[in-house]
Amino acid sequence: MNAQLRKIQTIIEPMTVMEGAGVRLKRSLGGEQVSYLDPFLLFDHFGSVHAEDYQAGFPMHPHRGIETVTYMLVGEVYHRDTLGNAGIIGAGDAQWMTAGGGILHEEMPQVRSEGNAGFQLWVNLPARLKMSQPRYQNIPSQEIPEVRMDTGATIRVIAGIVAGTDGAVTDIAANPTYLDVCIPAGCSFSHPVSRGHTAFAYVFEGTAGFVEEEEKPPTWIAQTKLVVWKDGDLVKVLTGDEPVRVLLISAKPLNEPIARYGPFVMNTKEEIEQALLDLKRGTFIWQEQACP
Ligand code: CO
Repeated sequence: MNAQLRKIQTIIEPMTVMEGAGVRLKRSLGGEQVSYLDPFLLFDHFGSVHAEDYQAGFPMHPHRGIETVTYMLVGEVYHRDTLGNAGIIGAGDAQWMTAGGGILHEEMPQVRSEGNAGFQLWVNLPARLKMSQPRYQNIPSQEIPEVRMDTGATIRVIAGIVAGTDGAVTDIAANPTYLDVCIPAGCSFSHPVSRGHTAFAYVFEGTAGFVEEEEKPPTWIAQTKLVVWKDGDLVKVLTGDEPVRVLLISAKPLNEPIARYGPFVMNTKEEIEQALLDLKRGTFIWQEQACP
């Protein structure tokens, strides 16, 4: 049997929202259009050359029960957390943070002449890892493998596998794929996605042709949009007379109940109340359980 191409399920137009202490960003998941695309809780795209759109940043704030992935395109963000990590995430770098049982961190975009742009994705943690030890993976740009395909596309493999090349980020609970795909004019890109996995593309440069059936004209989608695919075995995107850049993100859904309140995502309302109580009592940050 032939591998089945995935068709488009939903096309999402990002909404402009203000977050943190006053950062303007485009939200396409986790907002009013699609609140949850299991296991993805949120997808934000920030990008501006005007300091007033980003410099207020995200001062110290908590997270519990999720993993956050930051991928920078332009500029620099200073990061610091209660695990003791501190440093700059620069253009092309990725940062994967497992909040687990509790972490506080700050993310402060630095004012630079080139501005500030990138993405933040929230990936849900399965119930068994909600209260796990927090972790932090910082991946400098030069450690992200780049794969050049015969079809002309160049792929930065942040997580997942492309043509036998493993991504830079490993040991993530949802085992996601996170690819930054550059497709020159007049080329194509296809990638297998396991059946049953959630998959979406984020078109952020150019106009991409989504091939839904071989031998039929593609569905053209211009930047900036998030495209959710239906189930199937592989995805295919081609380009016309301009280059295109898209993110391809996929993972296996968790199929677990979720209870969500701001930066906390748990399975029950009681666990959310516990998180708020822990924050009030100063017992929020994950601590190693003492042996009985
Ligand atoms: Co945060």
